Amino acid sequence: MAQVLEIADLKKMAQRRVPKMFFDYADSGSWTEGTYRANESDFQKIKFRQRVAVDMTNRTLASQMVGQNVSMPVAIAPTGLTGMQRADGEILAAQACEEAGVPFTLSTMSVCSIEAVAAKTSKPFWFQLYVMRDKDFAGRLIDRAKAAGCSALVLTLDLQILGQRHKDLRNGLSTPPKFTPHHIWQMATRPGWCLGMLGTKNRTFGNIVGHAQGVEDLSSLSSWTAEQFDPKLSWDDVAWIKERWGGKLILKGILDPEDARMSLKTGADAIIVSNHGGRQLDGAISSIEALPEIVEAVGDKVEVHMDGGIRSGQDVLKAVALGAKGTYIGRPFLYGLGAMGKEGVTKSIEIIRNEMDITMALCGKRDIKDVDRSILRE
Ligand code: FNR
Repeated sequence: MAQVLEIADLKKMAQRRVPKMFFDYADSGSWTEGTYRANESDFQKIKFRQRVAVDMTNRTLASQMVGQNVSMPVAIAPTGLTGMQRADGEILAAQACEEAGVPFTLSTMSVCSIEAVAAKTSKPFWFQLYVMRDKDFAGRLIDRAKAAGCSALVLTLDLQILGQRHKDLRNGLSTPPKFTPHHIWQMATRPGWCLGMLGTKNRTFGNIVGHAQGVEDLSSLSSWTAEQFDPKLSWDDVAWIKERWGGKLILKGILDPEDARMSLKTGADAIIVSNHGGRQLDGAISSIEALPEIVEAVGDKVEVHMDGGIRSGQDVLKAVALGAKGTYIGRPFLYGLGAMGKEGVTKSIEIIRNEMDITMALCGKRDIKDVDRSILRE
């Protein structure tokens, strides 16, 4: 088997093992994909200060995100259709996370339901909610997440209108996937993937199907989904969701200092600086570019997290140095899942952990809590 040393190795392997339309779904951004690319490339502009002759023994990456202990400040980002990268994808990823001591966030648009993931895991995971037009349904989803023991709610604010991804349109991908002969051919060329799908019952989009009004089967899910994102979303929606949830609340999709200041009024526990992995507003700045000014605006009043473009432990360390108290990975874990299932998710987490640890040491730090801008050349 090929050596897996970095996230790029998992990506190459996933491309060989996942049907094209689902690999492309993960590996795409909106329109020109400019923001998607900038999320990754802007990390390269930031340079470390190498230090020597400092004690580098007894290092720790252990930290906290929204008051919860994490083995390092890295969580798994919510991603839709994860169970299409690999059968039972959300369950496998959640299991890998609980073993690794990092939070797993389940998307509203997941293939495996909240209850299916809860049944196969023993530690609390986080749940991501979209603000939908059907408030009763959103309220019931919140209640289900509570009943399943989820320990934080991630409320995504940057998807009032769906950004367009050319690859998905060209591949004819819809939610749920509808299969043409072309798609069936793509799947047939990935026999391992097909066998997994045939062997699982977790293909039902059970967060929604059977729970939302008029969505009794997969065929009615598609039109429902298209109508449900709420173009009227306002800060008042955050207030009622916070009230109904009553637990730790994280607001996802903040890219502007003005919105960061607005979010303070909601009383949320954390905000995630994010442009949805470059899948929404193409032409927006990268998350790592946006991070410092948001930390400057609100970092002393709310926990600031970030996601977008992290492909190594070095990237995580840069984000932490610039003030992020937590980070999230999306594609890296999806590539791992598509490449090697649960083992691949574990691998993606361990690659990042190892790179972080070594880099932190070479920057002369032993505890992630002591990492600040002093490790960067500015
Ligand atoms: C996402 N993202 C996302 N976000 C969210 O709040 N709910 C969702 O259902 C999804 N779905 C989704 C699917 C796929 C395939 C991707 C790649 C991303 C955005 C995600 O949570 C996160 O913001 C980005 O993935 C972070 O960027 P990287 O790490 O993928 O570069």
